[in-house]
Amino acid sequence: MCGRKRVFCLFILVLIVWCEGPGLAETRSFRLSAPDVLVETGFLKHLLPRFSLKHGVRVEIVAEGAQSDVLLTTEPQGTPVFRREAEIWYLRQAGPENEHVTGFEDWLTDDVGRNTIEAFKPDGRQLFTAALKRADAADAVLLSGNVVEGEELAVLHCGRCHMVNEATRMTNIGSTPSFAVMRAFSDWQIRFEAFFALNPHPSFTVIEGVTEPFDITRPSPMVPVTMSLEDLEAILAFVSRIEPADLGAPIQYQ
Ligand code: HEC
Repeated sequence: MCGRKRVFCLFILVLIVWCEGPGLAETRSFRLSAPDVLVETGFLKHLLPRFSLKHGVRVEIVAEGAQSDVLLTTEPQGTPVFRREAEIWYLRQAGPENEHVTGFEDWLTDDVGRNTIEAFKPDGRQLFTAALKRADAADAVLLSGNVVEGEELAVLHCGRCHMVNEATRMTNIGSTPSFAVMRAFSDWQIRFEAFFALNPHPSFTVIEGVTEPFDITRPSPMVPVTMSLEDLEAILAFVSRIEPADLGAPIQYQ
Protein backbone atom coordinates (compact mmCIF):
# COMPACT_ATOMS: atom_id res chain seq x y z
CA MET A 1 0.00 0.00 0.00
CA CYS A 2 2.51 2.47 1.29
CA GLY A 3 4.94 1.46 -1.45
CA ARG A 4 2.45 2.26 -4.13
CA LYS A 5 1.80 5.72 -2.65
CA ARG A 6 5.52 6.44 -2.61
CA VAL A 7 5.83 5.47 -6.26
CA PHE A 8 2.94 7.80 -7.05
CA CYS A 9 4.62 10.69 -5.16
CA LEU A 10 7.83 10.04 -6.97
CA PHE A 11 5.94 10.09 -10.27
CA ILE A 12 4.42 13.51 -9.45
CA LEU A 13 7.82 14.83 -8.39
CA VAL A 14 9.44 13.68 -11.64
CA LEU A 15 6.58 15.27 -13.55
CA ILE A 16 7.13 18.63 -11.81
CA VAL A 17 10.88 18.61 -12.41
CA TRP A 18 10.39 17.51 -16.00
CA CYS A 19 7.85 20.28 -16.66
CA GLU A 20 9.79 23.05 -15.02
CA GLY A 21 13.29 22.12 -16.19
CA PRO A 22 13.04 22.79 -19.91
CA GLY A 23 10.54 25.59 -19.30
CA LEU A 24 12.99 27.58 -17.20
CA ALA A 25 15.89 26.83 -19.51
CA GLU A 26 13.89 28.07 -22.47
CA THR A 27 13.15 31.43 -20.96
CA ARG A 28 16.64 32.31 -19.63
CA SER A 29 19.15 30.79 -22.04
CA PHE A 30 20.11 30.36 -25.67
CA ARG A 31 22.46 28.19 -27.72
CA LEU A 32 25.39 29.80 -29.49
CA SER A 33 27.21 27.95 -32.25
CA ALA A 34 30.89 28.78 -32.65
CA PRO A 35 33.70 27.06 -34.55
CA ASP A 36 36.57 25.44 -32.59
CA VAL A 37 39.11 28.03 -33.77
CA LEU A 38 37.21 30.67 -31.83
CA VAL A 39 36.43 28.49 -28.79
CA GLU A 40 40.12 27.51 -28.50
CA THR A 41 41.24 31.12 -28.05
CA GLY A 42 39.43 31.16 -24.68
CA PHE A 43 37.68 34.34 -25.77
CA LEU A 44 34.15 33.01 -25.23
CA LYS A 45 35.01 31.95 -21.66
CA HIS A 46 35.98 35.56 -21.05
CA LEU A 47 33.01 37.08 -22.86
CA LEU A 48 29.96 34.94 -22.10
CA PRO A 49 30.08 34.78 -18.26
CA ARG A 50 30.29 38.57 -18.15
CA PHE A 51 27.19 38.85 -20.30
CA SER A 52 25.38 36.17 -18.28
CA LEU A 53 26.18 37.86 -14.99
CA LYS A 54 24.79 41.16 -16.20
CA HIS A 55 21.66 39.83 -17.87
CA GLY A 56 20.88 36.59 -16.04
CA VAL A 57 20.87 34.73 -19.35
CA ARG A 58 22.87 31.53 -19.74
CA VAL A 59 24.65 30.93 -23.04
CA GLU A 60 25.34 27.36 -24.07
CA ILE A 61 28.13 26.91 -26.62
CA VAL A 62 27.39 24.25 -29.21
CA ALA A 63 29.63 22.99 -32.03
CA GLU A 64 29.52 24.45 -35.50
CA GLY A 65 26.69 22.84 -37.45
CA ALA A 66 24.71 21.79 -34.35
CA GLN A 67 21.24 23.22 -33.79
CA SER A 68 21.50 26.70 -32.27
CA ASP A 69 19.69 30.01 -31.82
CA VAL A 70 22.58 32.15 -33.00
CA LEU A 71 25.90 31.73 -34.80
CA LEU A 72 29.28 33.39 -34.51
CA THR A 73 30.80 33.01 -37.95
CA THR A 74 33.32 34.50 -40.37
CA GLU A 75 30.81 34.04 -43.18
CA PRO A 76 29.91 37.60 -44.17
CA GLN A 77 26.27 37.61 -43.07
CA GLY A 78 24.67 39.18 -40.02
CA THR A 79 26.03 41.92 -37.78
CA PRO A 80 29.83 42.41 -37.71
CA VAL A 81 30.66 42.32 -33.98
CA PHE A 82 34.41 41.88 -33.62
CA ARG A 83 37.53 41.25 -35.61
CA ARG A 84 40.90 39.61 -35.19
CA GLU A 85 43.43 41.11 -37.63
CA ALA A 86 41.59 41.09 -40.97
CA GLU A 87 39.25 38.29 -39.90
CA ILE A 88 35.80 39.62 -39.20
CA TRP A 89 33.28 37.80 -37.03
CA TYR A 90 29.54 38.15 -37.55
CA LEU A 91 26.64 37.40 -35.24
CA ARG A 92 23.71 35.85 -37.06
CA GLN A 93 20.38 34.74 -35.56
CA ALA A 94 19.57 31.21 -36.67
CA GLY A 95 15.95 30.82 -35.66
CA PRO A 96 12.96 33.03 -34.99
CA GLU A 97 13.47 36.38 -33.25
CA ASN A 98 14.74 35.64 -29.72
CA GLU A 99 14.79 38.48 -27.17
CA HIS A 100 17.84 37.11 -25.32
CA VAL A 101 19.85 36.84 -28.51
CA THR A 102 18.85 40.39 -29.44
CA GLY A 103 19.92 41.45 -25.93
CA PHE A 104 23.28 39.76 -26.51
CA GLU A 105 23.75 41.56 -29.82
CA ASP A 106 22.89 44.91 -28.19
CA TRP A 107 25.36 44.21 -25.38
CA LEU A 108 28.16 43.23 -27.82
CA THR A 109 27.79 46.45 -29.78
CA ASP A 110 27.33 48.75 -26.80
CA ASP A 111 29.94 50.23 -24.44
CA VAL A 112 30.15 47.45 -21.84
CA GLY A 113 30.30 44.63 -24.37
CA ARG A 114 32.79 46.46 -26.58
CA ASN A 115 35.06 47.16 -23.62
CA THR A 116 34.77 43.51 -22.59
CA ILE A 117 35.80 42.40 -26.10
CA GLU A 118 38.85 44.65 -26.11
CA ALA A 119 39.82 43.75 -22.53
CA PHE A 120 40.61 40.15 -23.57
CA LYS A 121 44.42 40.03 -23.49
CA PRO A 122 45.53 36.41 -23.04
CA ASP A 123 49.28 37.17 -23.29
CA GLY A 124 49.07 40.83 -22.45
CA ARG A 125 48.10 41.55 -26.04
CA GLN A 126 44.63 42.53 -27.19
CA LEU A 127 43.32 39.85 -29.55
CA PHE A 128 39.96 41.20 -30.74
CA THR A 129 38.73 44.62 -31.79
CA ALA A 130 35.11 45.57 -31.22
CA ALA A 131 32.74 47.09 -33.73
CA LEU A 132 31.93 50.79 -33.50
CA LYS A 133 29.12 51.89 -31.24
CA ARG A 134 25.83 52.16 -33.14
CA ALA A 135 25.50 55.85 -32.39
CA ASP A 136 29.02 56.57 -33.63
CA ALA A 137 27.76 56.52 -37.20
CA ALA A 138 26.21 59.93 -36.62
CA ASP A 139 29.03 61.72 -34.80
CA ALA A 140 31.95 60.03 -36.55
CA VAL A 141 35.22 61.81 -37.29
CA LEU A 142 35.19 63.05 -40.88
CA LEU A 143 38.72 63.21 -42.26
CA SER A 144 39.62 66.06 -44.56
CA GLY A 145 40.68 65.40 -48.13
CA ASN A 146 39.21 65.15 -51.58
CA VAL A 147 36.27 62.82 -50.98
CA VAL A 148 35.10 62.61 -54.61
CA GLU A 149 38.59 61.80 -55.85
CA GLY A 150 38.99 59.38 -52.95
CA GLU A 151 35.94 57.39 -54.03
CA GLU A 152 37.19 57.21 -57.63
CA LEU A 153 40.63 56.08 -56.48
CA ALA A 154 39.15 53.48 -54.17
CA VAL A 155 37.01 52.05 -56.98
CA LEU A 156 40.03 52.02 -59.29
CA HIS A 157 42.61 50.56 -56.90
CA CYS A 158 40.60 48.57 -54.36
CA GLY A 159 37.33 47.78 -56.16
CA ARG A 160 38.59 44.69 -57.94
CA CYS A 161 38.77 42.89 -54.59
CA HIS A 162 36.73 44.92 -52.07
CA MET A 163 33.17 46.13 -52.41
CA VAL A 164 33.88 49.86 -52.15
CA ASN A 165 30.44 51.26 -53.01
CA GLU A 166 27.25 50.12 -54.77
CA ALA A 167 28.99 50.37 -58.17
CA THR A 168 31.49 47.68 -57.14
CA ARG A 169 28.89 45.30 -55.67
CA MET A 170 29.28 42.84 -58.56
CA THR A 171 32.95 43.26 -59.40
CA ASN A 172 34.60 42.46 -56.07
CA ILE A 173 35.78 39.14 -54.60
CA GLY A 174 32.95 38.03 -52.32
CA SER A 175 35.12 36.70 -49.50
CA THR A 176 37.10 39.96 -49.19
CA PRO A 177 35.62 42.26 -46.54
CA SER A 178 33.66 45.23 -47.91
CA PHE A 179 34.70 48.78 -47.03
CA ALA A 180 31.44 49.25 -45.11
CA VAL A 181 32.19 46.20 -42.94
CA MET A 182 35.78 47.29 -42.26
CA ARG A 183 34.49 50.80 -41.51
CA ALA A 184 32.34 49.31 -38.73
CA PHE A 185 35.34 48.60 -36.46
CA SER A 186 36.88 50.92 -33.94
CA ASP A 187 40.36 50.53 -35.48
CA TRP A 188 39.29 51.14 -39.09
CA GLN A 189 41.41 54.27 -39.44
CA ILE A 190 44.75 52.72 -38.40
CA ARG A 191 44.04 49.72 -40.63
CA PHE A 192 43.36 51.85 -43.69
CA GLU A 193 46.33 54.13 -43.01
CA ALA A 194 48.60 51.09 -42.96
CA PHE A 195 46.79 48.86 -45.46
CA PHE A 196 49.87 48.68 -47.72
CA ALA A 197 51.79 46.97 -44.92
CA LEU A 198 48.99 44.53 -44.08
CA ASN A 199 48.50 41.26 -45.95
CA PRO A 200 47.79 40.60 -48.73
CA HIS A 201 48.64 44.11 -50.03
CA PRO A 202 52.48 44.25 -49.72
CA SER A 203 52.88 41.78 -52.60
CA PHE A 204 51.16 44.08 -55.10
CA THR A 205 51.10 47.63 -53.67
CA VAL A 206 53.55 50.46 -54.40
CA ILE A 207 53.19 53.77 -52.59
CA GLU A 208 55.60 56.29 -54.04
CA GLY A 209 58.31 57.18 -51.55
CA VAL A 210 56.96 54.82 -48.88
CA THR A 211 57.19 51.19 -49.96
CA GLU A 212 60.31 49.53 -51.32
CA PRO A 213 60.18 48.94 -55.08
CA PHE A 214 59.45 45.34 -56.01
CA ASP A 215 62.38 43.00 -56.54
CA ILE A 216 62.63 42.81 -60.36
CA THR A 217 63.64 39.18 -60.19
CA ARG A 218 60.41 38.46 -58.31
CA PRO A 219 57.79 40.65 -59.98
CA SER A 220 54.35 41.18 -58.48
CA PRO A 221 52.15 38.19 -59.39
CA MET A 222 49.30 40.50 -60.35
CA VAL A 223 48.66 43.97 -61.74
CA PRO A 224 50.21 46.19 -59.07
CA VAL A 225 48.39 48.99 -57.25
CA THR A 226 50.51 52.13 -57.67
CA MET A 227 49.50 55.24 -55.79
CA SER A 228 50.77 58.24 -53.79
CA LEU A 229 50.28 59.19 -50.14
CA GLU A 230 47.93 61.97 -51.30
CA ASP A 231 45.83 59.33 -53.03
CA LEU A 232 45.66 57.36 -49.78
CA GLU A 233 44.65 60.50 -47.88
CA ALA A 234 41.78 61.05 -50.34
CA ILE A 235 40.70 57.41 -49.94
CA LEU A 236 40.72 57.85 -46.13
CA ALA A 237 38.53 60.97 -46.43
CA PHE A 238 36.08 58.95 -48.53
CA VAL A 239 36.12 55.97 -46.15
CA SER A 240 35.46 58.19 -43.12
CA ARG A 241 32.11 59.08 -44.74
CA ILE A 242 31.02 55.52 -45.45
CA GLU A 243 28.09 54.34 -43.35
CA PRO A 244 29.34 51.40 -41.23
CA ALA A 245 27.76 48.09 -42.26
CA ASP A 246 24.61 46.82 -40.53
CA LEU A 247 25.19 48.69 -37.30
CA GLY A 248 22.53 51.30 -36.79
CA ALA A 249 20.20 49.64 -39.26
CA PRO A 250 16.72 49.23 -37.78
CA ILE A 251 15.96 45.76 -36.42
CA GLN A 252 13.98 43.86 -39.04
CA TYR A 253 10.98 41.77 -38.10
CA GLN A 254 9.62 39.14 -40.42
C1 HEC B 1 44.02 41.95 -55.01
C2 HEC B 1 42.97 42.15 -54.05
C3 HEC B 1 43.00 43.37 -53.15
C4 HEC B 1 43.16 44.70 -53.51
C5 HEC B 1 43.42 45.26 -54.90
C6 HEC B 1 43.02 45.45 -52.28
N1 HEC B 1 42.79 44.62 -51.22
FE1 HEC B 1 42.51 45.15 -49.28
N2 HEC B 1 42.31 43.20 -48.72
C7 HEC B 1 42.30 42.15 -49.60
C8 HEC B 1 42.02 40.92 -48.87
C9 HEC B 1 41.90 39.52 -49.46
C10 HEC B 1 41.90 41.30 -47.50
C11 HEC B 1 41.57 40.40 -46.31
C12 HEC B 1 42.80 39.74 -45.84
C13 HEC B 1 42.50 38.70 -44.79
O1 HEC B 1 41.33 38.29 -44.64
O2 HEC B 1 43.45 38.29 -44.12
C14 HEC B 1 42.08 42.74 -47.46
C15 HEC B 1 42.04 43.47 -46.28
C16 HEC B 1 42.11 44.86 -46.24
C17 HEC B 1 42.12 45.64 -45.03
C18 HEC B 1 42.10 45.09 -43.62
C19 HEC B 1 43.50 44.66 -43.30
C20 HEC B 1 43.68 44.22 -41.87
O3 HEC B 1 44.63 43.46 -41.61
O4 HEC B 1 42.91 44.63 -41.01
C21 HEC B 1 42.18 46.96 -45.40
C22 HEC B 1 42.19 48.17 -44.48
C23 HEC B 1 42.23 47.00 -46.85
N3 HEC B 1 42.19 45.71 -47.32
C24 HEC B 1 42.31 48.16 -47.59
C25 HEC B 1 42.50 48.19 -48.97
C26 HEC B 1 42.60 49.42 -49.75
C27 HEC B 1 42.49 50.82 -49.18
C28 HEC B 1 42.80 49.05 -51.06
C29 HEC B 1 42.98 49.93 -52.27
C30 HEC B 1 43.89 51.03 -52.19
C31 HEC B 1 42.84 47.58 -51.08
N4 HEC B 1 42.64 47.11 -49.81
C32 HEC B 1 43.08 46.83 -52.22
C33 HEC B 1 42.51 42.19 -50.97
C34 HEC B 1 42.74 43.34 -51.71
